[in-house]
Amino acid sequence: MTPRLIRADQDVLGRNDRPVTITVDGEPVTGVAGQSIAGVLLAAGRTAWRYGRTGAGRGVFCGIGVCFDCLVTVDGVPDVRACRRRARDGDTVTTQTRVPSDVDTVTTQARVPSDVDGER
Ligand code: FES
Repeated sequence: MTPRLIRADQDVLGRNDRPVTITVDGEPVTGVAGQSIAGVLLAAGRTAWRYGRTGAGRGVFCGIGVCFDCLVTVDGVPDVRACRRRARDGDTVTTQTRVPSDVDTVTTQARVPSDVDGER
């Protein structure tokens, strides 16, 4: 999966871009009809939108629905794979986190509790 968009004037298939706007954690993000939610997020420059128990950022890893690194909540439905779910205009996406409250995501690695295993 590439975060780059194909410009309409360079699309050899002649597709017309139809914009879609989704809301991600309250912020509007614009993509193109046909993109996955992960595609919209990547094209908007977001490479991580979920945080594991260690506080490490997660986004797209496999891009084909196998690894579950890209989970988000879409329209109230949790654990939706962003790489598999096509973005629909008006979708409300909420990022998910499994970071314990005592882990600071800014200085993640230095503050990871010693009892946290390497779980994603
Ligand atoms: S990136 Fe692996 S399941 Fe979505």
